[in-house]
Amino acid sequence: MLQTSWIELSSAALHQNIQYLKKRIGPDCTFASVIKGNAYGHGIEQFVPMAETNGVSNFAVYDAFEAHRALQVKRDSTHLIIMGMVDDDQLDWVIENDIAFFVFTMERLEAAIKMAKRLKKKARIHLELETGMNRTGFDEDELDIVISSIRQNRRQLFIEGVCTHYAGAESIANYHRIQQQHLQFDKMHKALKKAGIVPCYYHSASSASALTYPHTIMDMVRFGIAQYGMWPSMETKMNNLLSEEAKFTKDPLKLVLSWKSRVMSIKTVNKGNFVNYGTSFLTTKNMKLATIPVGYFHGYSRSLSNSGQVLINGRKADVVGTINMNMFMVNVTAIPNIKIGNEVVLIGKQGDFKITVASFAELTKMVNYELLARLPYLIPRIVV
Ligand SMILES: Cc1ncc(COP(=O)(O)O)c(C=O)c1O
Repeated sequence: MLQTSWIELSSAALHQNIQYLKKRIGPDCTFASVIKGNAYGHGIEQFVPMAETNGVSNFAVYDAFEAHRALQVKRDSTHLIIMGMVDDDQLDWVIENDIAFFVFTMERLEAAIKMAKRLKKKARIHLELETGMNRTGFDEDELDIVISSIRQNRRQLFIEGVCTHYAGAESIANYHRIQQQHLQFDKMHKALKKAGIVPCYYHSASSASALTYPHTIMDMVRFGIAQYGMWPSMETKMNNLLSEEAKFTKDPLKLVLSWKSRVMSIKTVNKGNFVNYGTSFLTTKNMKLATIPVGYFHGYSRSLSNSGQVLINGRKADVVGTINMNMFMVNVTAIPNIKIGNEVVLIGKQGDFKITVASFAELTKMVNYELLARLPYLIPRIVV
């Protein structure tokens, strides 16, 4: 292998997650798999076929670049939606390829109409409504002009969706804001309906809102983090653990991703010596240390210096000293039969132990999302 670490994606875990989440949203709701951020670090090219095998045929990406990548690997019948940026110079490609896209400004709506006229092909759009996140979306006072523009250009537009996004349904602190957003969405979508604008899908929920507030589920749910086997927050998990409809004793979400490497070198360092750069770790006894060829260049954060853990031979090993650009060291004094080439689990399971993304993320003060999305593109992804 050219690279010093690799990521394994578990088909069995993904199968279980998708089955569970589909059950939660019911048979009449469409499961849209959110694969922005390189499929949350899992790799678009590897993840899309895996999800398709599990009956997923709608994928949501962030931009045209991600749509290009997904288009190379997807089945003909699979549908793509761009939720974020589409440059005007990509609109022809997007419309030609039947890729749907969120429209949240008059500029984008007008550009879509103009391009659809030129191509003589309808643009498939999802009207994003501003309901209180104050990020992207049409404001209520823009609806009249949106309605009149759509009415005048019916032949250029296919209104596939009307949608919004909640501002943090994973935290109870946002409870009031989420309820207000839901009410505002209701009000705005009714105004569109009254004007004869009825899409195939009303959608608002991502993982946290679907799993916490069932009334946000509607015709489609855009599942990101949960499909990868992680709860959006501990609060969401606890809330589900205690709720009647979701009651479970064993976590129904299984981590899809594991990140692994191998021991590169082993050395004994006598008591009273500093280890690696600087003076952050002093041996207090004779110690056996292993070097792992992964560093912050590979996405293993420097803030795991003297605090991270890995698994080797089914045992936990503490990080000692600083994380370097390309390597770090762990204490393997108590691990018998340690050898160069032994498998090292950075995230995932080995024997009875597990390094979860959440624990990893807590130590690095990064949320799950950030840690996953930062996993470098060049680490090989292997489906197991
Ligand atoms: C518009 C939109 N929909 C859906 C999602 C998926 O969210 P989650 O990963 O929490 O399910 C995101 C992610 O941030 C998003 O921005």
